[in-house]
Amino acid sequence: MPRSTSGSLVLLALVVLCFSCAAAKPPPNVQGVKILAFFGFSSQSHNNFYNALTTELAERGHDLTVVTSYPMKNPPSKNYKQIDAKVARELFSKFNTVQASTESVVERLGKWRESAEFFMMCTKVINMTEVKDLMKEKFDLVLVPMFMNECGYPFAWLNKAPLILLAPTGVASLYELGNGNPEPTSYVPNLFLPFTDHMTFAERLINTLVTHIVNFIRFYFHFPAVDAATKEIFGPDTPTVAELQKSASLQIINGHFSLNYPRPFIPAIIEAGGMQIKKNSSPLPKDLQEFLDGATDGAIFFSMGSILKAKDMPPEIVEAFTSAFNELPQRVIWKWEPEVLPGKPKNVKTGAWLPQQSILAHPNLKLFITHGGLLSTQEASYHGIPLVGIPMMGDQLLNVLRSENMGYALQLSYTNISKESILSTVKRVLNEPKFLAKAKELQTRVHDQPQTPLERAVFWTEYVLRHNGAPHLRSAAVDLEWYQLHLLDVYAFLIAFASIPLILTCCIIKKLCCSKGDRNSNPQNETVTKKKKKN
Ligand SMILES: *[C@@H]1O[C@H](CO)[C@@H](O)[C@H](O)[C@H]1NC(C)=O
Ligand SMILES: *[C@@H]1O[C@H](CO)[C@@H](O)[C@H](O)[C@H]1NC(C)=O
Repeated sequence: MPRSTSGSLVLLALVVLCFSCAAAKPPPNVQGVKILAFFGFSSQSHNNFYNALTTELAERGHDLTVVTSYPMKNPPSKNYKQIDAKVARELFSKFNTVQASTESVVERLGKWRESAEFFMMCTKVINMTEVKDLMKEKFDLVLVPMFMNECGYPFAWLNKAPLILLAPTGVASLYELGNGNPEPTSYVPNLFLPFTDHMTFAERLINTLVTHIVNFIRFYFHFPAVDAATKEIFGPDTPTVAELQKSASLQIINGHFSLNYPRPFIPAIIEAGGMQIKKNSSPLPKDLQEFLDGATDGAIFFSMGSILKAKDMPPEIVEAFTSAFNELPQRVIWKWEPEVLPGKPKNVKTGAWLPQQSILAHPNLKLFITHGGLLSTQEASYHGIPLVGIPMMGDQLLNVLRSENMGYALQLSYTNISKESILSTVKRVLNEPKFLAKAKELQTRVHDQPQTPLERAVFWTEYVLRHNGAPHLRSAAVDLEWYQLHLLDVYAFLIAFASIPLILTCCIIKKLCCSKGDRNSNPQNETVTKKKKKN
């Protein structure tokens, strides 16, 4: 008995060994690949998302050339070359978010020329001499964000290299045309709408209309304008933006089901939401460390993100915040650009540049007052910090509503900011334990992943290289016309087919009725006919 047991054990061990041998066979390695990353147009926060990937790729020994509007001060390695797209940065710095967020839709539409110039910024970047010079170089892979950087797509065509698209905004519905991913507007809210994944009939109607209108504008106005510029720079044979987008190998998006609403994705879409979050946050500067360590009643972090400048805030709003903070026992760190904050209370510390992730990681931090930018809400979730959200524009309202829905945040409307509203909202989130409990619950979910989002993004980037652009990931949906994709032709046919018996029945009934009417004609009908005849 023992003998046969040990025998079968040995056999089992051999089998397992063989299987693990087979499984452990390494895939063909990719090393020292030349990668071009075109981040010509980006906000600072989008840049954090992009840089996380390029930095990691450089650290794995690849050769990076990065066109960026925010060059890193300390690039990760000497094979990390940066080209400063300062035209884009200058335009971005002119943008007044506070003003833009308080304008009505009609006012914004009136300024469409300005907006168009803003959206066409990347055409100025490809017109830079340093960028044009890149056409003479050879690259094995091209990374381009889908968000207003379409001008970079032709580099992939020029190099016959795989194209990987990045979506800094997470929700992909903005990019529906061309990526072949299902975008059910019945439960996937548009980036620019204040809806959740549970929508009423009216909301679904608006969601569908807005999604299609945005796509229509992108496809019929924005893309052709970009095409004209790319054909001028890259030559008349350059494929269109729409064609190039269809040819992309992969899309790395800034979202994850633990943070966003669950929704369908094709295998060529990789959810790397939060890949900018570092596992071990860098140490805090000494003054911030001491300030937070000494916050025995807890601390609050107040930052309205990178494109919203505190100096653009009207004085009465600043005053509302300072007087509210003055009444709180907590210490407050406030991201504030100018040197002095007028009426700064004793418990407030300001700074123009603040290490957000390290501050959120401090154990004394109890609350984050934020504009609700995607990266900020992700970082708060990662560290289990409840929010007070003051959404200003873009996807911020969507993010804040989602956080509120998830139970770890409250919204404070910018138009309703007063000392009282700040105090009541902040105190509710600080004092009602359910907000912290929900934030901690979310934190556990965000951490429970088989690999970090960055590891996932890097794995799939190298996967595309290992498999020559991975054409097997490409969805056939991109080859269909929109009416075929949504089966409108099939439904039209089915409806037509189903109506045949209906039409036939109607005809028969009509015929029967008419003939019946003829037989027992009533006097009234006769008078009518007579009258008609007289006329
Ligand atoms: C590129 O720059 C040249 C010279 O400044 C200008 O004439 C041309 O219109 C620009 N092209 C694009 C696409 O912006
Ligand atoms: C504005 O703030 C007050 C608290 O100061 C609150 O009672 C009220 O509901 C808020 N109004 C809106 C529209 O949010």
